[in-house]
Amino acid sequence: MKSLFLSLVVVSVLFMNSFSEVQGKKWKGEGTTKNLESIVIGRCYTYIRIVNPAVGEKNCSEIWEAFKNAFINKDPCSILPKDYELVINLSLHTIPPNKSLFWENNQLLVKSFADRGRRYMSLGDTLFGFFGDFLNWCGQANSAGLDYESCPTMDECENNAVDSFWRMASITYAQHSSGVIHVLLNGSAAGGAYPAPGFFADYEIPNLQKDKISKIVIWVVDDIEGPDIESCGTHTVKILENRLKTLGYDVTCTDNYKSVMFLLCLDYPDDPKCTLSSSVFSVDGSPLPDGPLTDMGTVWSVVVSLLRVCIC
Ligand SMILES: *[C@@H]1O[C@H](CO)[C@@H](O)[C@H](O)[C@H]1NC(C)=O
Ligand SMILES: *[C@@H]1O[C@H](CO)[C@@H](O)[C@H](O)[C@H]1NC(C)=O
Ligand SMILES: *[C@@H]1O[C@H](CO)[C@@H](O)[C@H](O)[C@H]1NC(C)=O
Ligand SMILES: *[C@@H]1O[C@H](CO)[C@@H](O)[C@H](O)[C@H]1NC(C)=O
Repeated sequence: MKSLFLSLVVVSVLFMNSFSEVQGKKWKGEGTTKNLESIVIGRCYTYIRIVNPAVGEKNCSEIWEAFKNAFINKDPCSILPKDYELVINLSLHTIPPNKSLFWENNQLLVKSFADRGRRYMSLGDTLFGFFGDFLNWCGQANSAGLDYESCPTMDECENNAVDSFWRMASITYAQHSSGVIHVLLNGSAAGGAYPAPGFFADYEIPNLQKDKISKIVIWVVDDIEGPDIESCGTHTVKILENRLKTLGYDVTCTDNYKSVMFLLCLDYPDDPKCTLSSSVFSVDGSPLPDGPLTDMGTVWSVVVSLLRVCIC
């Protein structure tokens, strides 16, 4: 009798567990990042107090409220870029001329290359990009709660909370970019260095303000040990160069731009591409002596300049 009762309890507990799991996971994507509110507000204050105080005073609680109101209490597949308009308005700041850095398929490289806005200001180095970086979030219809179990992926619906946020952020970033614009592309990316559809192709290029832009500089950088799939003037990079030229921009393109190569070489010091012989680097940028480095004074000056490039 007792054991029958126990097995009934076990069976019903198992049943309830699997039932709640089915109920909880509505979508295929990961759920909202835990502690989202603290992370967003904390990052926002970190940004305005420490990373880039030049943006001036912002009310980070108000920005959080506007952010949350863009997607809570709504069907998580019906969130539009314009739902984030108030968040963007509250967090908008100047993007210094010549500092914009667009990219595709190399987010971590761009993150270290841009160096939190010290070298370049990529979207992730603006206040609105900074607080959303690497986070996940969504709400649910008829409830003010966040869904921590699952969120829709791009395949499940295009108008999900995260993708619509990044569309709005990309549009705004492009509209406020000026001077010399830089684009860092991955020459080893299997799907093409310039993917279309893609954020750069679909939300950034169409929103660049032609009269504010003096030049567009494209860098196509291959992985040190990766394949050289694309280069300037070939495949999708050629498509991009033609598109920008047709739009009337002054465009230059450089393969394996030296500064970026130095950064990649930190992890592959013994690879032949990283031996500090000038021939492997592009001719663009600051000059390195020709041929292998034999003179110790030259070696030392290169080491010093490398350290200057790489210490963050
Ligand atoms: C910041 O915004 C919050 C929420 O909107 C508001 O309650 C608070 O008074 C604001 N703080 C300042 C200093 O304006
Ligand atoms: C955001 O700012 C723009 C330009 O100042 C304004 O036209 C728009 O109404 C604002 N949107 C919201 C939701 O505050
Ligand atoms: C931006 O770069 C251009 C061309 O290199 C230069 O003429 C201009 O002074 C730069 N602007 C700023 C604000 O640094
Ligand atoms: C470039 O793309 C390849 C293939 O998708 C990827 O493995 C690699 O990590 C990317 N390189 C960088 C620097 O992100």
